[in-house]
Amino acid sequence: MERLQKIMARAGVASRRKCEELILAGRVEVNGVVVRTLGAKADPAVDEIRVAGRVIRPERKLYFAFHKPKGVITSVHDPQGRKVVTDYFRHVRERVYPVGRLDYDTEGLLIVTNDGDFANRLTHPSSHIPRTYHAVVKGIPHGTLLEKLAAGIELDDGMTAPAEVEYRDVDPDRNEATIEITLYEGRNRQVRRMFEAIGHPVKRLKRVRFGCLTLQGIPRGKYRELSPEEVRALLQEAERSHKVHK
Ligand code: URA
Repeated sequence: MERLQKIMARAGVASRRKCEELILAGRVEVNGVVVRTLGAKADPAVDEIRVAGRVIRPERKLYFAFHKPKGVITSVHDPQGRKVVTDYFRHVRERVYPVGRLDYDTEGLLIVTNDGDFANRLTHPSSHIPRTYHAVVKGIPHGTLLEKLAAGIELDDGMTAPAEVEYRDVDPDRNEATIEITLYEGRNRQVRRMFEAIGHPVKRLKRVRFGCLTLQGIPRGKYRELSPEEVRALLQEAERSHKVHK
């Protein structure tokens, strides 16, 4: 059983506040009976809920792979009015939100969903789904520094877990290198902090892979819906990586 306004909001009727107003205004019926109290609960799987006479459908679960451009906040709202991820999902009726986060200046693969349980499982600290980044860094780091990053280095929130790190490109003219790094944990600004710690700050950062998903075929600022197989595979990866790292 869940509060009516919550079920209504998730079904895409309106914001929770607006839904409360609809309830107080006597526009909402549960199994043919008008409900005017805000504490009222219902079971969306069995109860028939009508708003202004129309039956609401329980929300569909949606899963997207989004190519976030840089200069976009990983959020559903920004008080300063900057562009947010959900601006790209305006015509999706369901209330979707990002799974985990990418920095404002980071571009790349971000999962967007309305399935809270799925989002929690993927971002839970016990889930060690691999995330791969391409980092363009200032200067050309020596191989021994990359080995240090791979083995784990001390940051102000503790040692980093073992990672995979390799060169992708070295550009002496521009005095920069592109390094591919795969992490099995997702701390705040972790890639940037790791490269800062070895004296090669990140100039550009892109996440190219999250578990079994890649950015392939998704232009910047666009998304595609995940197949049920991909959703299952991600959940399995979260579960499996949890066991492996126990
Ligand atoms: N690590 C970072 O430093 N930034 C991101 O956006 C993601 C991982």
